[in-house]
Amino acid sequence: MIIFAPSILAADFGCLGKQIEETGRAGAQYVHIDVMDGDFVPQISFGEPLIRSIRKKSDLFFDVHLMITDPEKHVQAFADAGADLITFHLEAAKDPGAVIAAIRQAGKKAGLSIKPSTAISAVLPFIDRIDQLLVMTVEPGFGGQKYIEASTQRIAEARKIISERHLPIDIEIDGGITKNNVDTVLDAGANVIVAGSAVYRDDPYENTRYFMEHFAEYEKTHTC
Ligand code: DX5
Ligand code: ZN
Repeated sequence: MIIFAPSILAADFGCLGKQIEETGRAGAQYVHIDVMDGDFVPQISFGEPLIRSIRKKSDLFFDVHLMITDPEKHVQAFADAGADLITFHLEAAKDPGAVIAAIRQAGKKAGLSIKPSTAISAVLPFIDRIDQLLVMTVEPGFGGQKYIEASTQRIAEARKIISERHLPIDIEIDGGITKNNVDTVLDAGANVIVAGSAVYRDDPYENTRYFMEHFAEYEKTHTC
């Protein structure tokens, strides 16, 4: 099943609750929440207080993408704030296995992410312990960037590894997704699609509807 995860990084924070509600009403299942610390990535976005505040207003699945150094220090806080799934970066963790264990200990789903320059094979030691693999399709840190074409091959490689091992892992992709290139990542094997600017640039309800209808159509023509 294809899951849509609008990234609130591109939302209007002045009416964030309402905008999230609109994406949910249009059928999006996830809220993608980009946490940036100004260290692992150049920019600072937001942290637990914001998540706690939108948690009160939304029953959607909170897909928290931590772009922070030493994620193990903050796992419990994000779990308490209302995350459903916590993804951290392989490149940011001293002991990725311990971070996964901490996420599980907190009762949440665990995601592992890699930057465009990290080999897909680097996730192999952890692949049987995670719920989601996030293959970044831009350099993490900013919304509104262009999809890196070499990502298509990387998604296919990740899908091959997961299929061969019969693992029930979602492949999420994040960065530069538009109405025009979304089929490329679906064809390559991604099934959780993040989109920031393509949803929030203008009307989040209409844009989400477009993607959800497109996914329904895609699934109809791609299932046997
Ligand atoms: C980038 C973030 C993305 C970002 C995507 O570091 O992880 O989630 O919000 O934004 P778009 O879809 O505009 O590339
Ligand atoms: Zn993200």
